[in-house]
Amino acid sequence: MWISFAGIITNYKDVKQFLVQKGHKFRSDTDTEIIAKLIKHIHGLHPNYSFRELVEQVIQQLEGAFALCFKSMHFPGEVVATRRGSPLLVGIKTKTKLATDHIPILYSKDSPEKVELKEHSKLKDHRPHGHEIPAHGLARSQSTSEFLPQGDNKEVEYFFASDASAIIEHTDRVIYLLDDDVASVEKEGVLKIHRLKRTLEDTHAREITTLKMEIQQIMKGNFSSFMQKEIFEQPESVVTTMRGRINFDSETVVLGGIKDYIGEIRRCRRLLLIACGTSYNSAIATRQLLEELTELPVMVDLASDFLDRNTPIFRDDVCFFISQSGETADTLMALRYCKQRGALIVGITNTVGSSICRESHCGVHINAGPEIGVASTKAYTSQIISLVMFALMVSEDRISAQPRRSEIIQGLRNLPDQIKEVLELDSKIQEISKKVFEKKSLLVLGRGYNYATCLEGALKIKEITYMHSEGILAGELKHGPLALVDKGMPIIMICTRDNVFVKCMNALQQVTAREGRPILICHKNDQEPQKYGSSVLEVPKTVDCLQGILTVIPLQLVSYHVAVLKGCNVDCPRNLAKSVTVE
Ligand code: AGP
Repeated sequence: MWISFAGIITNYKDVKQFLVQKGHKFRSDTDTEIIAKLIKHIHGLHPNYSFRELVEQVIQQLEGAFALCFKSMHFPGEVVATRRGSPLLVGIKTKTKLATDHIPILYSKDSPEKVELKEHSKLKDHRPHGHEIPAHGLARSQSTSEFLPQGDNKEVEYFFASDASAIIEHTDRVIYLLDDDVASVEKEGVLKIHRLKRTLEDTHAREITTLKMEIQQIMKGNFSSFMQKEIFEQPESVVTTMRGRINFDSETVVLGGIKDYIGEIRRCRRLLLIACGTSYNSAIATRQLLEELTELPVMVDLASDFLDRNTPIFRDDVCFFISQSGETADTLMALRYCKQRGALIVGITNTVGSSICRESHCGVHINAGPEIGVASTKAYTSQIISLVMFALMVSEDRISAQPRRSEIIQGLRNLPDQIKEVLELDSKIQEISKKVFEKKSLLVLGRGYNYATCLEGALKIKEITYMHSEGILAGELKHGPLALVDKGMPIIMICTRDNVFVKCMNALQQVTAREGRPILICHKNDQEPQKYGSSVLEVPKTVDCLQGILTVIPLQLVSYHVAVLKGCNVDCPRNLAKSVTVE
């Protein structure tokens, strides 16, 4: 048995106990092994079951979030794949055109019930006797033969993956599977999608989607890692985020995915921005501007904490779910929680077809292109721009907001060239990184719009360098963190000319008075803060609400260089996954 597994099985101990009682021996303590042993056990009891039926029996016993793909020597030439809570797609490659752009769902005539695994229970025969019945009463032959390629060459290859970037070099045609879909490829090469039970919300077919991704988008090219490539792609990725949405001459912004909901959004009680990790930091980065331009209360929440609190949600709330992958379990559960309570759900994602994308009422695709490095970089800057564009769109009808809107739109216009300028600091940042890479800790200080940069910079540093790092609001220094400051403590401080500049200078002086010699990120040619820094990274000046995009890039580069100097795996940091599909 060959199993490819992503996710977590939460009841694996119970299943294991049952199987041990049945005489199965285990070589590991992993949840993956119980899946292999369970299918073996059911096959032993019911040797006449088809491969797909065996898998259907297995998944009824499993709890948790998973994407699974099975192959077996007992069923040569067949593959069965299924998902629940973890993403899974099927790529289809044929020499000739397919005769259809969708594949109908098949249901078993008798829906098998879930069997409880109890001490003395025996897995019962829940085989769905009789033939399969496709949704909408399509005859079985109709539903399957239509799917084969047209013409004489019926050759077809299937690829199973969690993310489209893994298969784009082979094919651009994919089917996104939904929870509890069981996709099987049988000997004749026909793909079928089954569901155990028919529910009211079921759609009757799965669409074959053509990906817009280019192969070069997922190649490293001359870069040493995807993260480095993605950092350097930002002058272009911010442009694709804005393309077709901002008219810089007429100073108008249209986000096609939410334009029909703008009236409802303007009338809402409050905006809630809910996300995890970097996506959460993008909400922190834009909260102030959203408050200013929408004149609405804006709540920002970490998805896990939001759920822990059973937060009250009302029908006239508008809830934003920000997620690069669109599959983060906590964010998705928070989305479902708010949707059940009648709020308007807005998805901000980078992954077309993702669960968050599908389950939102409306949304914005950030169009940053595939992000493969586990550390999120270009998605962060594109998330900020997407939320800024949203604020600009909502405030279009406010005359008093026009001068502010105008300066922001022109700021966005200049951003790609300014990002290029910041990226030219790369070799200087590499030298600075050599001075800090052996230290135990690195504090990142700032306030106002740059506070999000501190959080995001510290997250990048701990994530890929395994060094302790903390983003600290400079206004909080006196309330504790100042005790950490001495001449040995490495500090990066962001001090740009905005409405909190004077307060930042004050914090800088408090740090230097304790012999701290911070590395400073400040505006080009701004002499005043520079005299207090051990090294200085000068970034171009932009509008306050966009400044975080230019101040975070040096920190992305610091984390990258420190990780390389420490010999860490930049793209795949230990213990972390790109999509966190489990709680
Ligand atoms: C960022 O570098 C991290 N890998 C992580 O914090 C990530 O942003 C978080 O898991 C949320 O992911 P999402 O944007 O795909 O929902």
